Amino acid sequence: MDKIGLYIHWPYCARICPYCDFNIYKNKADTEAELVRAMIADMAHWREMSGRRRLVSIHFGGGTPSLLAASNIQKLIKTAQNLWSPAPDLEIGLEANPNDINAKALTAWREAGIERLSVGVQSFDDDALKFLGRDHDGRAAKQALELATPIMPRVSADLIYGFTNQTEDMLQDDLHRVLASGVSHISTYQLTIEQRTAFGQAKKRGINKAVGSDASADFFEQIIRALTAKGFNQYEVSNFAKGKAAKSRHNLLYWQGDDYAGIGPGAHGRLTIDAKRRATIAALRPKDYITAVGNRGHGIAEQEILSPQSWAEEYLLMGMRISEGISLSRYMQISGHALAVDKITDFEKAGLLVKLGDQLSASPKGRMVLDTLCRELLS
Ligand SMILES: C[S@@+](CC[C@H](N)C(=O)[O-])C[C@H]1O[C@@H](n2cnc3c(N)ncnc32)[C@H](O)[C@@H]1O
Ligand code: SF4
Repeated sequence: MDKIGLYIHWPYCARICPYCDFNIYKNKADTEAELVRAMIADMAHWREMSGRRRLVSIHFGGGTPSLLAASNIQKLIKTAQNLWSPAPDLEIGLEANPNDINAKALTAWREAGIERLSVGVQSFDDDALKFLGRDHDGRAAKQALELATPIMPRVSADLIYGFTNQTEDMLQDDLHRVLASGVSHISTYQLTIEQRTAFGQAKKRGINKAVGSDASADFFEQIIRALTAKGFNQYEVSNFAKGKAAKSRHNLLYWQGDDYAGIGPGAHGRLTIDAKRRATIAALRPKDYITAVGNRGHGIAEQEILSPQSWAEEYLLMGMRISEGISLSRYMQISGHALAVDKITDFEKAGLLVKLGDQLSASPKGRMVLDTLCRELLS
């Protein structure tokens, strides 16, 4: 049976962070019941489109899905499990902000079926957290991990690096603290300045909140050194896991080009049927999403069948992010043509690519210039 993952986007946040460009809205608890009802109906529509599938992951992302009532989380999980055929090792993950994490919430999430918690730590440093406009402090971040690790089977921490008031000492301190916390997975995100955000506006006024590319590369190298020295495997450019079981199976679906249903306002989905890959985006605004589901039975606002070329590009761009890389024969099957052998050979000689049988991956050196490398391979 073909597999499928399920992404559920909860679009509300208690506070909007100045760097965040996701599809987010200031918390509106009054629409919770309505939105959950719409999500459940939308899920049934996705089940009709996908047919019977092995459900390998359910991921609650956002926004801040830790603001969603545990009873509603449970309802959404149960609905998904009844619609598709849950895999024995079904991953059920929730992104949580430190301020929402306490013993009661953790127990309720666990009872609802959550087994993997991804905590938005960002930093343990109070000055850094203020700079990033977060609504938690370092103590709350530390406490959230202390409470979560004994209750949740798998805990991941998100860190942001490369902001202008960050020093090497601050980064080392964050790495030291996250390693001491006992989490089995760490995601490290380079601060990117997105136009439509407060940081984007500041940049227009000449104030840059992110360090330049050289400084950022230095930080990134330090991160890789510190985490790999402690037994974490950099299985994706920004993601580190201690042991195979700690990897995010949901994110692996994205990176390996597998299918996932996208439920909730603005959620993206991918569905492959009869060698045709459909890309979907749900209506962005919660009200529009609810109305769309009410009128049409689903929340999809845009959909297209990807051309073989854009499908293959996506397969390559996502697949080269993971340590296994891509299958060259799969690339050829999707696009109808092979990647240029001479380019692959040149990049192998330069120590940027590694070709092992049918698999093509980026070397550690290649990962530092991955965007350019992929562009060259595709040009
Ligand atoms: C969209 S958030 C959702 C999780 C949760 N609401 C939180 O803030 O922790 C997922 C992760 O994306 C990262 N992120 C969001 N915007 C970013 C940006 N502009 N640059 C770097 N990382 C970013 C943050 O590390 C965050 O933990
Ligand atoms: S970073 Fe997280 S909490 Fe902040 S606005 Fe984005 S989704 Fe919301």
